[in-house]
Amino acid sequence: MNSATRRKRIALFGATGSIGKSTLDVIRRFPDRFELFAVSCHSNIGALEDIIDEFGPKYAIVTGEGNLKRTDLKVLRGREGLEEVAAHHEADIVLIATLGTIGIFPTLAGLRAGKRIALANKETLVAFGSVVVKELENSRGELIPVDSEHSALFQLLLGWKDDAETLILTASGGPLRKLSREEMERVQLADVLRHPTWNMGKKITVDSATLMNKGLEVVEAHWLFRFPPEKIEVVIHPQSIIHGLLRLRDGALVAHMSTPDMKVPIQYALTYPERLPSEVRSPDLPDLSSLTFESPDFDRFPLLKLAYEALKKGRGFPAVMNATNDIAVKAFLDGRIGFLDIENTVFTVVNEFEGTEEDLGALIEADLWARRKAREVVDSLV
Ligand SMILES: NC(=O)c1ccc[n+]([C@@H]2O[C@H](COP(=O)([O-])OP(=O)(O)OC[C@H]3O[C@@H](n4cnc5c(N)ncnc54)[C@H](OP(=O)(O)O)[C@@H]3O)[C@@H](O)[C@H]2O)c1
Repeated sequence: MNSATRRKRIALFGATGSIGKSTLDVIRRFPDRFELFAVSCHSNIGALEDIIDEFGPKYAIVTGEGNLKRTDLKVLRGREGLEEVAAHHEADIVLIATLGTIGIFPTLAGLRAGKRIALANKETLVAFGSVVVKELENSRGELIPVDSEHSALFQLLLGWKDDAETLILTASGGPLRKLSREEMERVQLADVLRHPTWNMGKKITVDSATLMNKGLEVVEAHWLFRFPPEKIEVVIHPQSIIHGLLRLRDGALVAHMSTPDMKVPIQYALTYPERLPSEVRSPDLPDLSSLTFESPDFDRFPLLKLAYEALKKGRGFPAVMNATNDIAVKAFLDGRIGFLDIENTVFTVVNEFEGTEEDLGALIEADLWARRKAREVVDSLV
């Protein structure tokens, strides 16, 4: 059987998370097309065992503390395990849906080995975009975005790359879209986790409430599509039906719409350039009584503005912003700091940073420095 007709072997990193589960739904739906080759989790060993029992992958990787004791597959650990499987000659597609910056290591290893990287993990491009782009240019590998807005833009650019002047990313505005700064000061974790349109992991749900998520996506879009920051717009669109738009040079505006369900972009990243039938229906226009749009409020959501500034500065500023945000969001999720302390922590650390080189070693150093500083700031706040 040649590689065009045999089932594609998928390495799914972050299999136990929200994107991981949606990816398993897609794989379940196409047993003749896809085979789960490898899975990873951080510490949720029980959930990983259930996936292994159902899909029978050849490899499992645990990146955190837990122990997986099985003899029916090969068990690997940590960053090295992710790298080994990403470059494995039997893997065809590596879908990276882990949390945090560990995603850079399998991304680089997979690209170097000529794999398709389906990238959900936006932190990888935010912190190490220049490094990933360099690797991509020198390899036979492909990078296909899984994030819904970037998947939409990727698809639109297939048709209009030469005529596109500006990219537009939509944002739902998150659960706190209408709140004043005074009201934000008092919000509780439960309010923040009540996302109006998307069902996602906790970290990204908090990022949606601060609009940091959209800021990270602006940086991600820059590296994926090589548009400068001033040619990347954000618009608030609370219904999350339109995911991305292009302004074309003749005055046309083209949009990509779909029901807000991550199975749509995940399936596309796995099947591209083909399209297969989906269980998710496209929206019925008469049901969409109104699609609304607002400009983002950079005063109420200053982290979005910071992301543009960090992208313009480069020199490790996006990596520091992202790492600090990771620590601050975790502290908020753990109930240690308040909602607005997230941005206070990020601004404090970013303001102390002086910039670094754009190479992997220096960016990792900057990431680690920012995490240390952010922990100090959080400790001073509790
Ligand atoms: N959810 C969405 O709709 C969505 C949309 C676009 C992009 N993304 C991006 O996709 C990524 C995953 O998001 P998610 O919402 O699926 O997150 P999630 O539900 O929290 O799942 C995260 C996954 O990563 C694993 N993980 C946690 N910490 C890790 C670490 N330090 N190192 C390696 N693996 C770790 C988790 O394992 P355990 O279960 O063992 O903890 C889990 O499998 C994020 O980068 C997010 O920004 C998500």
